[in-house]
Amino acid sequence: MQKRFKTGIVCLLVGGILLVTLWQLGYLDPPAQYDIQLDENLKDAAGIPIGVAVDTYRLQNDNAYRSFILQHFNCIVAEWQMKMKAIYLGPGEYEWTYADYLVHFAYENNIAIHGHTLLWHESIPQWLKDYTGSDAEFAQLVENYVRTVVGRYKDNISTWDVVNEAFTNAGYRDTLFLQRLGPNYLADVYQWAHEADPDCQLYYNDYGTLEDPTKTGVIIAEIQKLLSTSAPIHGIGIQGHLHLNDPDLTSIAIALGTWNALGLNLRISELDVSINWDGLRPVFTQARAESQRDYYHNVVEKFLTSPHLTSISVWGFDDAHSWLPNHHHHPDWPLLFDGNYEPKPAAEGFLRALQGL
Ligand code: GLA
Repeated sequence: MQKRFKTGIVCLLVGGILLVTLWQLGYLDPPAQYDIQLDENLKDAAGIPIGVAVDTYRLQNDNAYRSFILQHFNCIVAEWQMKMKAIYLGPGEYEWTYADYLVHFAYENNIAIHGHTLLWHESIPQWLKDYTGSDAEFAQLVENYVRTVVGRYKDNISTWDVVNEAFTNAGYRDTLFLQRLGPNYLADVYQWAHEADPDCQLYYNDYGTLEDPTKTGVIIAEIQKLLSTSAPIHGIGIQGHLHLNDPDLTSIAIALGTWNALGLNLRISELDVSINWDGLRPVFTQARAESQRDYYHNVVEKFLTSPHLTSISVWGFDDAHSWLPNHHHHPDWPLLFDGNYEPKPAAEGFLRALQGL
């Protein structure tokens, strides 16, 4: 009898834990259902350019993708095809096909194209990583690259991310560029880009720039040092790969205030709002869709208070093609539209903020 009683208690406990776990994961909640008609295209509601990261292959081959981009966005950024690994095939050897296509697409459709990105430690071509020449020769190869790419597009690209993710929250990131070009490399690289196109607005782009006050402090201190030696840096790209409700709005307001005080232009450069970054929210429930709508609305409303804001770009527009599921190895719904290009509540939140509502 006592044994049965004990077994009963254990079963109840296990059942209870199971239920709570299912509930926390979202399996007991209604899945997201929406039927939203946007009353305005995103780009038409904004006083600043609204950009999107694009996949060149889809742009070339998928009419629906192409028209959707032109309907809602007036600035494109190459998700991949304008990075060094995609363009720099060897000394004096460049692959221009896809970058040229994007630049031409923007020109033909009278929209902007933001250059992304000249130097990024995650996109160094293998031959350059393996290069055994001297540091001076390595520097010459990087200089040639920067001057050639910026020079080639000087009539079409008026904003470039020159260096991407050069800092951690402890200072300069230990990259091949730092090792080979030396501690003053940012000043050199910005100068090369500036000389190749003196009218171009040159940005520094990084993540953690809303979420991590220590890293923000490091970047600002280093950029200020560079500015004090007249380095041609004109703006900061705040990537904005956010998590649902994290950072909170107060932290975002504080971070933005710090960036505003630097006085440079600000772009929100890669916005998305991950719901399931850690695998603990594997279902896109109605409640999560609504929280994401409100969070998109509130963060965009905050961004728009910045007098230095020059544009907002999202890192893709449909959930079926976001980089995040691959990156985190979990399903996710971080973007404004679903895989059928239907506007999610997130799109409504984003649009309402642009409309000032
Ligand atoms: C960083 C880069 C982007 C992109 C994302 C991941 O944020 O700046 O170009 O590669 O990582 O897709």
